Amino acid sequence: MKRTTTTISQADIERQMAYCQEIAAISQTKPEQPLAFVDTYGCQQNEADSEKIRGYLRAMGYGFTQDEEQAQIIVINTCAIREHAEQRVLGNLGALVHVKRRHPEQIICLCGCMAQESHIAEKVKQSFRHVDLVFGPHVLWKFPEFIHTLLTSRGRIFQIPDEAGSIAEGIPVVRQDSVKAWVSIMYGCNNFCSYCIVPYVRGRERSREPQDILKEVETLVSQGYKDITLLGQNVNSYGKDLETPMDFSDLLEKINAIQGDFLIRFMTSHPKDATPKLFETMAHCEKVAPVLHLPFQAGNDRILKEMNRKHTRAEYLEKVQQLKALIPDIVMTSDVIVGFPGETTEEFEDTLKVLEEVRFDALFTFIYSPRVGTPAASMPDPMSREEKLANFNRLLALQDTISEEKHATYIGKTIRCLVDGESGDMRYPLAARTPGNRLVRVSGPQELIGQFVFVTITDANKWSLCGELAE
Ligand code: SAH
Ligand code: SF4
Ligand code: F3S
Repeated sequence: MKRTTTTISQADIERQMAYCQEIAAISQTKPEQPLAFVDTYGCQQNEADSEKIRGYLRAMGYGFTQDEEQAQIIVINTCAIREHAEQRVLGNLGALVHVKRRHPEQIICLCGCMAQESHIAEKVKQSFRHVDLVFGPHVLWKFPEFIHTLLTSRGRIFQIPDEAGSIAEGIPVVRQDSVKAWVSIMYGCNNFCSYCIVPYVRGRERSREPQDILKEVETLVSQGYKDITLLGQNVNSYGKDLETPMDFSDLLEKINAIQGDFLIRFMTSHPKDATPKLFETMAHCEKVAPVLHLPFQAGNDRILKEMNRKHTRAEYLEKVQQLKALIPDIVMTSDVIVGFPGETTEEFEDTLKVLEEVRFDALFTFIYSPRVGTPAASMPDPMSREEKLANFNRLLALQDTISEEKHATYIGKTIRCLVDGESGDMRYPLAARTPGNRLVRVSGPQELIGQFVFVTITDANKWSLCGELAE
């Protein structure tokens, strides 16, 4: 495959860092350190992007706040996957008009997937005049330059170039967590599932060079990170576009060989590209967690075809069987859409059958939401909202029963878990994760955060487990 995307040169990133320094010099003239508020919606990819925005902001001399009244710069990093997410952002963005009236020097920025949609950018241009900067994911690397322009000459900036996308190495990051870290291994998506906006806003698939990924993971492990999640819209197609092609399984092997006690997770995998080689690699790489998030979206072959998923239900089930044969205690999770245009209740029942057959540990369930510009948005969609909701509730009820039954089988077992934070529960104050990423609330002291401990599971419900530290 030919590369259609560009690599941003180190000189370009150095120029951005020079803008950061100039802004930092301005920051230092202020009586108090200026603050920024970065608000993130959407998936882990967006979380990872916000870590870069924070990295740039810190290099500009900014501290961080969660209070929009205190912030000199507000960045809203948005998600376009469903209408509900967009409505929330537009609501919050609208409310900022009052905040900005009280703080006229404030800079308000909208970025991420929603910003890349031209109808949204147009709406913001016309009706949200308090927004100073709108930029899409392809030009995130230029954030310091945009801020520099806004600080030195007033005006508004709209930067949403329609391009295949680029790769920029060397942007500083401020990570949100000290135990778990996100590492993007590739960007974009080539799959064009008929309901999905992601390929339109995130550009074409492009893979980072393996040595850049390995260096980043090595650094994270040396800093004490214990749980590394490799990110991409379809990690199984990693490496196809590299000059020296390499597949995702080979990358996993190399990361697994890094010295240290840590877990490797990844998401998301597209079933059409999940291969026996991947399953074998997962089985023999001891650091790769025994969990697979493998979205199937729908259980009916006609709907899968209309969705342009490029696999059938039988093919999906066969892959699950192959994986379970190699890793019997594999934790499986998936994404499902209910109410795709034209899906009948009978066709929806095929989705329930997949749940019964696979018995996922957890499921992420969505009601179909039409996205402007996608093929599915212009398909006839006769089913009423009430009927879709009724089907959705049947799906939730079935999954709740399965999750509860699966979680109950943990009771009495002693499992090595990673303590990754506080649970907010007085009796079980620690939050930990099983290797399969099930949440376990544990009693124990705070000092254990960031450590692997053995936990005996004493109780379970449909959402989580709880337990006591084992001797
Ligand atoms: N790249 C991932 C999915 C990213 S989006 C993959 O292909 O598995 C996360 C999930 O959002 C999707 O798996 C799908 O279930 C859901 N989704 C995407 N577009 C949607 C839409 N228009 N309406 C409802 N759910 C949607
Ligand atoms: Fe969207 Fe499909 Fe790409 Fe996932 S694989 S991001 S669902 S187009
Ligand atoms: Fe949303 Fe963009 Fe992620 S649309 S789900 S933030 S890739």
